[in-house]
Amino acid sequence: MLHNTPVPAEILRKWQGIVDLLADIVRVPSALIMRVEPPNIKVLVASESERNPYEPGEEASLNTGLYCETVMNTRQPLLVPDALQDEDWKSNPDIKLGMISYLGVPISWPDGDIFGTICVLDGQSNGYSDLYLKLLLQWRDVLQADLTSIATSEQRFRTMQAELAHANRLATLGQLTASITHEVKQPVAAVLLNAQAAQRFLARQPPDLEGGKKAMDRAVQDCIRAAEVVDRTRALGRKEAERKDSVEINKAIAEVIGLTRNELLKNSVEVQTQLAEGLPVIQGSRVQLQQVMLNLIVNAIEAMSQTGDDRRDLLISTRSQADCILIAVRDSGPGLPEGAIERAFEAFYTTKSSGLGMGLSICRSIIEDHGGRLWAAANEPNGAAFQFTIPINSVS
Ligand SMILES: Nc1ncnc2c1ncn2[C@@H]1O[C@H](COP(=O)(O)OP(=O)(O)OP(=O)(O)O)[C@@H](O)[C@H]1O
Ligand SMILES: [Mg+2]
Repeated sequence: MLHNTPVPAEILRKWQGIVDLLADIVRVPSALIMRVEPPNIKVLVASESERNPYEPGEEASLNTGLYCETVMNTRQPLLVPDALQDEDWKSNPDIKLGMISYLGVPISWPDGDIFGTICVLDGQSNGYSDLYLKLLLQWRDVLQADLTSIATSEQRFRTMQAELAHANRLATLGQLTASITHEVKQPVAAVLLNAQAAQRFLARQPPDLEGGKKAMDRAVQDCIRAAEVVDRTRALGRKEAERKDSVEINKAIAEVIGLTRNELLKNSVEVQTQLAEGLPVIQGSRVQLQQVMLNLIVNAIEAMSQTGDDRRDLLISTRSQADCILIAVRDSGPGLPEGAIERAFEAFYTTKSSGLGMGLSICRSIIEDHGGRLWAAANEPNGAAFQFTIPINSVS
């Protein structure tokens, strides 16, 4: 659900500026942006003004008669100049915090669902001029524009995930195809052997018709077997048209980092990038190359989350080399044990309880399809380093 999407830190910083200014302009102890998280409502951003009784992160249950709850239910601005003088409001929970007047407006997601409120509260009776309401509505529109951009990038993330999942399936298909090709070789070799045997039987003087017929029967059976395998392959491996994009690798990488930002944050991973400027554009499949980056980054995050509270550093770099671009993903996790460096690329090799062990083998086949190489090594001073090259004139 869109509505659990976290608000990125840089937007929260901007919103902090808005509520601080709001509290200053309206001259109240408290300006808040509230976010609904059923069954609770949470203080998402609180003005850093003196005497503000609300702390960011504080939660209150819904259905307790809060001012903000009414704003969300009615989807209308609410003005309560003096709750103590108001039958409807004189026992509402915010009074306990000394907040007896309120002005707030609802904030919605672009699809119309409610996000929360932006409001000001005061410890004394306050009629709040119309201008303040206009100001709140104006800022509400700013917040909603930010929500639209959050929703759009979330949507893009989902589309990209779907694209990558599709690419993953295709890659798996590619591997299945390879193993089926392997399977078909065997009956074809048997057909050849049996046909040659039949030739020998028939070349005898007099010809051994019985032996020749038996050999031909076996050859026919082998042909049928081969045909079956081929049919199966065709059904499975109907190949998508190969894609050839002009890929700006730094841009493609930045996009993947952007998409994994939440995951990185959640796992307290610090990302650094050293992306060389002026790299040539490469020819290949953007989605596939991004899939490789995504797999490597996810592996690094997973590896580093096993370590205690040590620093978790991820360094992603690009640079140009003779006739290719070199991309490296380095982490500060436990690294790969000596004997596992090559095994890690084998299909179905995994050390994770929920891993499939396909990530790296798919990455390698994608990079090789692009004419490059993917390998692993120990990182300095610790962790693993995965590096790959893409030739500058690569074709997917
Ligand atoms: N950055 C890393 N640091 C340490 N070990 C790693 C790292 N990347 C991969 N490995 C090891 O290589 C194994 C294979 O990785 P691979 O990505 O192929 O499969 P997986 O991550 O286990 O499962 P999945 O199919 O979900 O990707 C991992 O299980 C892990 O043991
Ligand atoms: Mg993996």
